[in-house]
Amino acid sequence: SDPDLVDRARAARAALGERAFVLGHHYQRDEVIDFADVTGDSFKLAQRAAARPEAEFVLFCGVHFMAESADILTADSQQVVLPDMAAGCSMADMAEISQVEEAWDVLADAGVAGDTVPVTYMNSSAAIKAFTGRHGGTVCTSSNAQVALRWAFDQVGGVDGTGKVLFMPDQHLGRNTAVNQLGLSLDDCVVFDPRKPNGGLTDAELRDARMILWRGHCSVHGRFSVQNVEAIRATAPDVNVMVHPECRHEVVAAADRVGSTEYIIKALDAAEPGSTWAIGTELNLVRRLAKAHPDKQVHYLDSTVCFCSTMNRIDLPHLVWAMESLAEGRVVNRIVVDADDAHWARVALDQMLALPG
Ligand code: 13P
Ligand code: SF4
Repeated sequence: SDPDLVDRARAARAALGERAFVLGHHYQRDEVIDFADVTGDSFKLAQRAAARPEAEFVLFCGVHFMAESADILTADSQQVVLPDMAAGCSMADMAEISQVEEAWDVLADAGVAGDTVPVTYMNSSAAIKAFTGRHGGTVCTSSNAQVALRWAFDQVGGVDGTGKVLFMPDQHLGRNTAVNQLGLSLDDCVVFDPRKPNGGLTDAELRDARMILWRGHCSVHGRFSVQNVEAIRATAPDVNVMVHPECRHEVVAAADRVGSTEYIIKALDAAEPGSTWAIGTELNLVRRLAKAHPDKQVHYLDSTVCFCSTMNRIDLPHLVWAMESLAEGRVVNRIVVDADDAHWARVALDQMLALPG
C-alpha cells in the first residue's frame, strides 16, 4: 500500500492514542489489520467491543451490523465509527424488520408462533436483533450456533420435542447446525421465503417443521461448490477441506471440517507441518493464513478470487480519513442504534453472551 498513506495512518493512530480502540474482523484487508488493536470473528469482536471503556472512539473495521452491535454493547459515552458507511452485508440485507414482523404474523395465523423461538445470526440489523429480544430469543454467531440452537429448543420443550426455531437470515448456517450438530433431519427444515405469500409454505408445513429457515445466504460462502471440493481432492488426495458453516449443506457434507473463522485459524495452528489444506472462506483471511503457515500447504477452495466486497470497502484511505477526522475533532460515520431497539437488541445479545462457552 501507499507509503505516504501508511505514514499518515501511523501519525493519526498515534495522535488518537488511548482515545481510540480499533477492532478488525478477520476478513479485513492486511493494510487495515495492521492497525487493529484486536482482531477476531464476529463473536470475539462482540465480546471485546466494550473492553476499553476509557476509549472515546471504537473504530470498527468490519461491516455495518457488527458496528451496530458494538454500539449496543459499549457505554453511551463511547462513539462507534465505521470507516465506510457502505460496508454493509448482502446477507443481513436479505431480512428486513418489516418482513420479519410479517413472517411472525404468518406463524401466528398458522398457530405456531407460541411454540417458536426466534434465533438471529449476528449478521442481521439491530432492529431484527431487537425483535428477537422482544420475543424471548437469542443472537448467535457461527462459533456458538450449536449452543444457541440447543438453548432455543430448550425454551420450547427441547430438541426432541415439538417446538420450533425461526432462524434468520442464513438458511445454511441454520440447516448445517440443526442437521449436523443437533441431529434434526433435512425434512425437519423448511425455508421461509419472505417474498412469497405465507413464506411459500402451507400451514401444515409450518406446523410440521422444527427449523423454519429464513431464505437468506452469504454471497461469498454460497459460491463454494461440491465441484470445488472434488477438484481439489483430485489434485491433492491428502487435502483437508475446511469450510465455514455459511457454505451450502452439500459443500459442508463434502468437507472434512467445518467451523467459524476463529475455529479455522486454531485448526491451522494445530495442524501438522507438511499437511495440505483447502479453505472455504473469505480470501483475505485465507491469504493471511497461507502466509502465516509457510510449513503447510494452504490453498483457497475456489480457483476464482472471492473477497467479501463489502468487507473490502474498509481500506487504508477510509481508515486514514476516519482517524484523521477524529483526531481533528470531527466525529464522522458514527453508528447509533435508537434507544428502544438498542435495549431489546441488548437483551438478545446478552442472552448470547451468557450461553455456556
Ligand atoms: P464469523 O466472524 O462469525 O466467522 O462470520 C463470518 C462472517 O461472514 C462475518 O460476516
Ligand atoms: Fe456478509 Fe458474507 Fe460478507 Fe460476511 S462474508 S459480511 S456474511 S456478505
